[in-house]
Amino acid sequence: MTKNFAHRGFSGKYPENTLLAFEKAIEAQADGIELDVQLTKDGEIVIIHDETIDRTTNGKGLVVDYTYEELKKFDASYIYTGQFGFNKIPTLKEYFNLIKDTNIITNIELKTGINEYKGIEEKVYNLIKEFQLEDRVIISSFNHYSVLRMKAIAPRIKCGFLTETWILNPSKYIKNYCVECYHPHFAMLTPKIVNELKTLGIEINTWTVNKEEDIRDMISKGIDIIIGNFPDLTKKIIDETLNK
Ligand code: G3P
Ligand code: CA
Repeated sequence: MTKNFAHRGFSGKYPENTLLAFEKAIEAQADGIELDVQLTKDGEIVIIHDETIDRTTNGKGLVVDYTYEELKKFDASYIYTGQFGFNKIPTLKEYFNLIKDTNIITNIELKTGINEYKGIEEKVYNLIKEFQLEDRVIISSFNHYSVLRMKAIAPRIKCGFLTETWILNPSKYIKNYCVECYHPHFAMLTPKIVNELKTLGIEINTWTVNKEEDIRDMISKGIDIIIGNFPDLTKKIIDETLNK
């Protein structure tokens, strides 16, 4: 059955990658949450999409140039002009505390595409172990070297290669590296590619699926996880499909 993951939390209606967006995703009965992690100057794992804080907060500059004490003073919901009060950039630890007693599965995207954040894989894995969440996480990255570093440290952790373009023979590529999941943009999921991936037992987790027709298309193709900004809409459509 297709699972419903909230992209950066319930980011269609609430400030992305904040504890508020994660709480709202849980309230919307999402099966899982996708989020992005980077490292601060003092090595804290923080949840934020961009390498800089310019787009999503009222501050400026690189995440890696701030300590967490400095970073937490910026408002990660400022573009909503006070609608949701003040929301800080959360740490991964705070997020784990929020979801640890739920059934939420977490897709942690390592944002190692531009800054490799040396040691981030081990730090993330140590926190997963501390919270005993080994069976409730999927690690993904556009940086496939980073995914393989995680796999080498933690062979038991489910991992996926993220792609945003048409790669040749994705099923063979993924199988070759003993990675469990493929995380392409949904436009790349032709029936032929889906069939090849399924034949090799590769889990297909796709993004960012926000429109009703695309959600229906992904369900009909038997995609494992739909990652979207509107987990309420995805849930409604999955429930309707099940009750048919
Ligand atoms: O992990 C799926 C998706 O989040 C990848 O793209 O840019 O939204 O992080 P982006
Ligand atoms: Ca992401």
